[in-house]
Amino acid sequence: MPVLAAPAEIARDQTDLDPDGFGHLHRLMGSWGMLADLSFGDLLLFVPTSPAPPEGGMSFVVLGQMRPSTGQTLHQEDLVGSVLPEARRPLVALAWRLGEIVEGKADLSGEGELARIQCIPIRWQGRLLGVLGRESDLGVGRRPGELERVYVDLFDRFADMIVNGLFPFPGDEAPEEYPRVGDGLVVLDEGRRVSYASPNAVNALHRMGVHSNVVGTTLDEQGVEEAAVERSFLSRLPVIEEVERRPDVIVLLTCIPLVHVGRLSGALVLMRDVTDLRRRDRLLVSKDATIREVHHRVKNNLQTISSLLRLQARRLASAEGRTALREAERRIRSIAIVHEILSRDVGDQVPFDEIVQSLISMTEDGLGGRRIGLTVLGDAGELPADVATPLAVVVAELLQNAVEHAFGEWTGQVTTERVGRVELTLGHDGRRVVVTVRDDGQGLPEGFSIQDTTSLGLSIVRDLVTGQLEGKIAMFTDGGTVVDLEIPVSRKLTGS
Ligand SMILES: Nc1ncnc2c1ncn2[C@@H]1O[C@H](COP(=O)(O)OP(=O)(O)O)[C@@H](O)[C@H]1O
Ligand SMILES: [Mg+2]
Repeated sequence: MPVLAAPAEIARDQTDLDPDGFGHLHRLMGSWGMLADLSFGDLLLFVPTSPAPPEGGMSFVVLGQMRPSTGQTLHQEDLVGSVLPEARRPLVALAWRLGEIVEGKADLSGEGELARIQCIPIRWQGRLLGVLGRESDLGVGRRPGELERVYVDLFDRFADMIVNGLFPFPGDEAPEEYPRVGDGLVVLDEGRRVSYASPNAVNALHRMGVHSNVVGTTLDEQGVEEAAVERSFLSRLPVIEEVERRPDVIVLLTCIPLVHVGRLSGALVLMRDVTDLRRRDRLLVSKDATIREVHHRVKNNLQTISSLLRLQARRLASAEGRTALREAERRIRSIAIVHEILSRDVGDQVPFDEIVQSLISMTEDGLGGRRIGLTVLGDAGELPADVATPLAVVVAELLQNAVEHAFGEWTGQVTTERVGRVELTLGHDGRRVVVTVRDDGQGLPEGFSIQDTTSLGLSIVRDLVTGQLEGKIAMFTDGGTVVDLEIPVSRKLTGS
């Protein structure tokens, strides 16, 4: 709750409150939207200032202010932080001195208009922390409506709990913020029977399939899951629970026990229909799952295609045909690797080092016993899928070229001494990804130029890098073949 940054400072600078006491008032302010609604009045939290005013008597600083959503506010202005001398709020001072609830009327505006005042001392572990002032229109509680009578009566029961140190509930048990009463309110008696259901609560119950009159029955008898109520009655603490009545109706129940002179006197149940909220949550979750499932299927299909190509390659008599199919198979597998990772993680970003590991294994599998050492240095971080997919194809192609061409024609003989080294270096600086593939082999053929080459593998590499990835490529000989790639990803990179 952002409003509480200021109260903490006010409490520290202008009052004697210790952190423990402030914590209790903080919890009270977490629940008092509900209290203001029940009271139809403005709530003000008064704490005696320290030191007391030099002119004698007491003065109070306003630590918090809450307006009702059920009625009109008396205070258009923000009173938080204002210091009021005893003379401006005599009933607050009286309630503080007596340690009891004081009620009366007062002319707060100084314009002769009387307001109804109720001052509730806030007690916590045997000491007084402040006074909760309820300031409302004179008419409140006098009009005959049942809803208003019930609400004001509930407020009085909470007031009784506040002055006896029973509300707000201690520590972690209390919810951060209570629901407001507008969504639907049910009052239970000590036998868990409904004594009142607000019109909105009746609507919520209808949506849950309860059509008979609930007054005089328990929620359980109406077929409403009331584990929350049961637990709350046992523990005498508030319990929040989501109840799913039919597959398509979800209601959030907050059960707040009401205690009077050490005895549970009933409970207040707030109901909020969260069906639409939850439906949206579930849609999002299932959308993620669907996307992952699609990637999974794409990966499976690609793997099937690559198996078919492998089978077909084996049956071909022509060596050239076999090589071509094997290359096609390898390209498809490098795309499948990306979909495999996308099918596991939520979101559009893929950790590229995982892809690199798979590409390295794939290249090593094709070494056929030759001793070529493949090393990876650095990390490209997380990349968006639309960068990772073409980049995976490019890297696979370059690794394959290095093991295929750098160290001379492969004779098919298994040798034991180390033949060569291939080094893949990756890095990103938030704006671009840089990739270098370097080998220590024989270097490029005389007169080779990446710009002019027409061979398939490097044409694919060049077109993906300069086209789809909008990057740059350089390829030259420097103690072996070196390929440098630079790919812009500034917009898409996250976490950097
Ligand atoms: N790492 C390398 N070392 C030496 N020569 C290379 C290297 N990479 C590519 N080449 C040369 O570039 C040519 C074109 O490569 P590429 O377009 O991938 O076709 P392919 O691999 O099918 O021959 C290769 O045939 C080879 O002569
Ligand atoms: Mg090649």
